[in-house]
Amino acid sequence: MRIIMLGAPGAGKGTQAKKIAEKYNIPHISTGDIFRANIKNGTELGVKAKSYMDQGLLVPDELVVDLVADRIQQDDAKAGYVLDGFPRTIPQAESLDAALAKMGQKIDYAVDVEVPDENIVNRMSGRRACVKCGATYHLQYAKPKAEGVCDVCGEQLILRDDDKPETVQKRLGVYHQQTQPLIDYYENQNVLKEVDGTKDMEEVFADIVSILG
Ligand code: AP5
Ligand code: MG
Repeated sequence: MRIIMLGAPGAGKGTQAKKIAEKYNIPHISTGDIFRANIKNGTELGVKAKSYMDQGLLVPDELVVDLVADRIQQDDAKAGYVLDGFPRTIPQAESLDAALAKMGQKIDYAVDVEVPDENIVNRMSGRRACVKCGATYHLQYAKPKAEGVCDVCGEQLILRDDDKPETVQKRLGVYHQQTQPLIDYYENQNVLKEVDGTKDMEEVFADIVSILG
């Protein structure tokens, strides 16, 4: 099963993608997580990506397209995957389609997690993230067992640099301008499924499972 997660920053793409990956036993491929891991490790890609991410801007398409095309050809992605944070622009979606066509594959579902902008800023300021394993928490809605420590791997949790309210506003603007057009793009491919992302996390997941089967 090949799935794309769509939705505004903070809509819960990562939260739901993790659950989908576990239930259906497919890899969770988050371009944001890949960039953050590269920043943490001080790679060349990380240095380039950071300057865009910290401003709430998208990283240029050419830094992300080949990376994802390589990733989806790895052995663990043969039975499918859940893409989180990619594609994010029409050119990215077109290059994904081209890569899939070469492999004789297609996307089965594009799941759009819908949350109005008003709810987003509050969610982001309470989010805490683990840069080591990608786990995500929330001070109110998804607390870690021990304050400030990742349940999964024991690493210290951080407030992402791009989760400051002014940067979140910027990311929302970028989302509406560059990423929202993908909703029509995937609707035209007849793979779009919309879920109400304002519900409780478990309810959102149940709605997604009823779509994926
Ligand atoms: P990325 O890491 O993908 O960030 P994003 O799309 O802005 O999305 P987030 O990760 O912020 O939100 P999410 O939807 O995953 O929400 P989450 O589940 O964490 O990208 C970061 C940056 O990298 C971009 O700005 C860009 O610069 C660059 N980048 C990445 N991919 C790129 C690409 N393809 N092209 C170009 N640039 C790229 O949930 C948010 C919070 O809410 C959490 O605390 C969570 O616990 C809580 N929560 C989740 N669901 C619920 C719920 N139902 N109720 C209450 N709380 C909830
Ligand atoms: Mg995320």
